Amino acid sequence: MKVRKIQINIEEFSGGEPLPEADRKLLTAAQQTLHTSYAPYSGFHVGAAVYLANGEIITGSNQENAAYPSGLCAERVALFYASSRYPGVDVEAIAISAGADNFPVDYPVTPCGACRQVLAEIETRQKKKIRIIMHGQNGLTQVVNGIENLLPLMFNEEKLKGLK
Ligand code: THU
Repeated sequence: MKVRKIQINIEEFSGGEPLPEADRKLLTAAQQTLHTSYAPYSGFHVGAAVYLANGEIITGSNQENAAYPSGLCAERVALFYASSRYPGVDVEAIAISAGADNFPVDYPVTPCGACRQVLAEIETRQKKKIRIIMHGQNGLTQVVNGIENLLPLMFNEEKLKGLK
């Protein structure tokens, strides 16, 4: 037996530190879509913005349901719409922002496990890494280049085909 250590790389920008211009623009689009969130059950509003290789920005917000599991996260709303509106166009980046009814979101919001799996599927399909920009309302922004930084040991199409 041996213990294997896996390293993940996260770029961190403190509240006062300027983001790269493209990241700032995408995060602003995510923030501007927050008001479209339908979150009467959790009171937690999430906005996502996807930057495509054709220059389009597609936004989405979380959409909840009285039957809780029927709701969908902002990231998947945006990613699935992007893929259906522009099939075959690569996803370059996604920005995530959040706000809550009862408290300030002072930490970066990271995608849930199911959204990470969807990001893994897209990366595998397009053979190109996605830049993931994570923010709350205030403070720190975290950025990763590639889903392996959020989903190490992921299951994807390669495993299904016996590759690796
Ligand atoms: N949510 C997202 O939309 N994205 C995330 O990254 C985290 C969670 C939503 C799902 C649900 O509507 C609410 O936030 C509380 O979990």
